[in-house]
Amino acid sequence: MQLQQHQEQARYTTIAIVLHWLIAVLIVGAFTLGLVMTDIPGFSPTKLRYFSWHKWAGVTVLLLAALRLLWRLKQRPPALPAAMPAWQRGAAHGLHHLLYFMMFAVPVSGYLYTLAAGVPVVWFGLFKLPVFFAKNAALAETLKPVHYWLNMLLAGLVGLHLLAALKHQLIDRDGTMRRMLPGRSH
Ligand code: HEM
Ligand code: HEM
Repeated sequence: MQLQQHQEQARYTTIAIVLHWLIAVLIVGAFTLGLVMTDIPGFSPTKLRYFSWHKWAGVTVLLLAALRLLWRLKQRPPALPAAMPAWQRGAAHGLHHLLYFMMFAVPVSGYLYTLAAGVPVVWFGLFKLPVFFAKNAALAETLKPVHYWLNMLLAGLVGLHLLAALKHQLIDRDGTMRRMLPGRSH
């Protein structure tokens, strides 16, 4: 217990860790579902169900990202290892800022596209979310590729983030990964 104390101090807070992994799972799920559902030809009950699940997961990401940002502004993460070179700190901060931005930009673009297509979003089939503007076919045509390309950008950024995490874990072995993992319970 005492031995682990210095490690505990170097972790993100439990709330930050839970939000990080919950959002990561939801993003990967929504992304996969997005590709699968748009590949189903024609209209079918399954396709419609997948579209709904996709939107519910995406809106959930948006809400959790807002909570996460608020928490992050209040709760600074633990200091990075002192030995980390300045360029790596800069790269990590830049990438983390971009990832935060994308956690909002991707679901917002999907939401606006859906409104422009004239489909209201009923979150989990229970809460009708605000409709800010009327159906607009031209806007929908613009927003569809915006949602798509923001997603491709997000996938690239997450790929870089994953490679960085693996480099720290397997090559540098500097305990960076442990900062974002729950502590052992014993
Ligand atoms: C983290 C959140 C989200 C991710 C990762 C995500 C990802 C994706 C992906 C990968 C596609 C497939 C794009 C294509 O192949 O054309 C897609 C399509 C779509 N998304 Fe999302 N999305 C998210 C949030 C949302 C939200 C919040 C909504 C609406 C409330 C939404 C509505 C749609 C719609 C309607 C399509 C179908 C577009 C089409 O017909 O081509 N998405 N999404
Ligand atoms: C959609 C997927 C993901 C997103 C959007 C995401 C986003 C982020 C963001 C924004 C941070 C910075 C947190 C902060 O300082 O407030 C972070 C930290 C971190 N992420 Fe991810 N992440 C994702 C997936 C992953 C995966 C798959 C791994 C590892 C296999 C991972 C490992 C880490 C680690 C170790 C940190 C802590 C870095 C540090 O010590 O400062 N993440 N992530």
